[in-house]
Amino acid sequence: MTDMLTIRRPDDWHLHFRDGEVMRGVVPYTARQFARAIVMPNLSPPVTTAEMAAAYRERILAAVPEGERFTPLMTCYLTDTTDPDDLARGASAGVFTAAKLYPANATTNSAHGVSDVAKIYPVLERMEAEGIVLCVHGEVTDHQIDVFDREAEFIERHMRAIVRDFPKLKVVFEHITTADAAIFVMEQGENVAATITPQHLHINRNAMLVGGIQPHNYCLPVAKRETHRLALRKAATSGNPKFFLGTDSAPHLRSAKESSCGCAGIFNAPYALESYLSAFDEEGALDAFEGFASLHGSAFYGLPVNKETITLERAEVPVPESLPLVDEEIVPWHAGQVLGWRIAS
Ligand code: NCD
Ligand code: ZN
Repeated sequence: MTDMLTIRRPDDWHLHFRDGEVMRGVVPYTARQFARAIVMPNLSPPVTTAEMAAAYRERILAAVPEGERFTPLMTCYLTDTTDPDDLARGASAGVFTAAKLYPANATTNSAHGVSDVAKIYPVLERMEAEGIVLCVHGEVTDHQIDVFDREAEFIERHMRAIVRDFPKLKVVFEHITTADAAIFVMEQGENVAATITPQHLHINRNAMLVGGIQPHNYCLPVAKRETHRLALRKAATSGNPKFFLGTDSAPHLRSAKESSCGCAGIFNAPYALESYLSAFDEEGALDAFEGFASLHGSAFYGLPVNKETITLERAEVPVPESLPLVDEEIVPWHAGQVLGWRIAS
């Protein structure tokens, strides 16, 4: 049995830091584990220009604890009126690493998102020409579509058209939750990839709905049936470079989660690596972990692999029921459970 695992330092290719006090409280959890992270732009107001992204990046860097080396990679929140020139300038200036497509009203702070993909075709054309990565929240928002079918429907209505009309565009299908999405990604060329969260490797929809409503297991896209969880485990541990780590850690205070209208989002940053590694261990796939966590994402984004390494060791790690944040508390993913791995160095 392998009890120690040394890998290149990993990166998180999809993450929410928020802003202000919450951001200052959560940045250290990510910086402890990851060298870089793709930072989501769904603030209020959203990060829609290179100037806003550069200022946000400075605020994040100021929150990185002394002695930690961490680089935030910024994204542009696409709207119906995104200026392709600002986006392209921001990318060539090294401010933007990617741009994010939120269908309007699909998830937290997405009201200013794209109302019709056709409206951003000039932006996508420019991104394809400049090699700027498109990150996609792949869910339709049509009220007639069942929430459990929204990802699969998005593939049929939008993903197929995007990859057909922009065959060279680099597309990340974010936080996939279905076998349909995993298969779609596998069938495309190497410019189409996907991130997978720890929660979607661990839970199916029962975890949200059985034994009472479990708000801390609720995120978007919602966890689906067990068959989908198993398909995601298979994809993540397969060694296929199209699949890589993206936690989608999405902090909401306990009061915002445990409410009559609880927010979508799981705060998994504190024990993200430990959580992923437990899933890989259960699959007997520890040897596939470095690719998923530390190699595939940087290769896709065309960025260098991190030079430093990190060592993980088998050990019992109790996860606290809650953590203090902004005069309140926040419930971490796996709260009250014991994980089987910890970071040794
Ligand atoms: C995210 C958030 O809270 O910002 N929530 C979530 O459930 N994942 C937004 C998102 O990525 O959909
Ligand atoms: Zn997200």
